[in-house]
Amino acid sequence: MPKLSDFELVISPLQPPGPGECLVRGVYLSLDPYMRGRMDDRKSYAESVQVGQVMVGQTVGRVVVSHHPALQPGDPVVGNLGWQEQAVVPAKWLTRVDPGRESLSTTLGILGMTGLTAYFGLLRVCQPRAGETVVISGAAGAVGSTVGQIAKIKGCRVVGVTGSQTKASYLREQMGFDAALVWGSEPHGPDRLAAACPDGIDVYFDNLGGSVTDAAVALLNLKARVAVCGQSSQYNLDRPDQGPRWLRNLIIKRAKVQGFLVWDFEEEHPRALRQMRDWLRAGKLRNREHVVEGIENAPKAFVEMLEGRHLGKYLVRLA
Ligand SMILES: NC(=O)c1ccc[n+]([C@@H]2O[C@H](COP(=O)([O-])OP(=O)(O)OC[C@H]3O[C@@H](n4cnc5c(N)ncnc54)[C@H](OP(=O)(O)O)[C@@H]3O)[C@@H](O)[C@H]2O)c1
Repeated sequence: MPKLSDFELVISPLQPPGPGECLVRGVYLSLDPYMRGRMDDRKSYAESVQVGQVMVGQTVGRVVVSHHPALQPGDPVVGNLGWQEQAVVPAKWLTRVDPGRESLSTTLGILGMTGLTAYFGLLRVCQPRAGETVVISGAAGAVGSTVGQIAKIKGCRVVGVTGSQTKASYLREQMGFDAALVWGSEPHGPDRLAAACPDGIDVYFDNLGGSVTDAAVALLNLKARVAVCGQSSQYNLDRPDQGPRWLRNLIIKRAKVQGFLVWDFEEEHPRALRQMRDWLRAGKLRNREHVVEGIENAPKAFVEMLEGRHLGKYLVRLA
């Protein structure tokens, strides 16, 4: 688990933007679990951040100075500016966004990477059908709560696994889940999951890994689909913990397990975002954000996010 002393806040001069570059002032910084992986010196799908470098992160902000014809001062843009209030970056790193009547913050959450992860992980990887049982781990997080809502739109029965009674009530009462159960300190987790899924599990959307996943795999139905989106329970372990060896159950159930990255579907993002916006405006999707003020609070917020104490999408307001 990262500590506050692992971070340093540095004030440094900005170089003026050169040809093809823009100066951008950040408005919101997204905090996401993948950042923990970038702090490890381990081979992954992306480069690690080296000690002393600016921490990576997606920001939505506004162009202040543009030396590129495609962007004008004032334009709202999303880009990987890192944990910085302002940054000078090549214009090609930036995507102009149109938040419409939604808040700029949604372009990092439900109408951004988070929403797209839920959309493609559920609809493309798992292909749920009406009446099927969908189980989600890390269900009260930004991705999990969106997955559950999309599954409800598709007519599925949705069961969330979460970290506290408050979160379980939130999932049932505000996010429309059919059932939500608490994992962790409460005993008999696998039995309670089985009781919440009397017809077994057709789709398992995994944000967590660990013992929840072991229990879910034991309940899979014939031809079940499992999307491996995240493994949050493993990110702070030096060595992965050893669970039951359950691959045999995949043979018996002819189940499919697929890891995916939201970027695998990049060409289809615009169409998916239109659909998500329509659902949001029709009141079929609810958006929940947890906003912390000021970049100086980002390290504390990041640790809290890894502890899973929040509900919804974690953001830092920069300006
Ligand atoms: N594949 C992709 O392209 C992609 C894209 C974005 C995110 N992800 C992954 O998706 C997962 C969810 O992301 P998110 O943005 O929704 O994050 P998030 O808002 O931080 O939610 C994660 C949730 O997981 C639970 N959790 C976190 N750490 C835990 C721990 N150590 N032990 C037990 N429970 C823990 C908490 O929920 P509960 O209390 O409800 O259990 C937390 O709210 C992450 O693993 C992330 O890496 C993958």
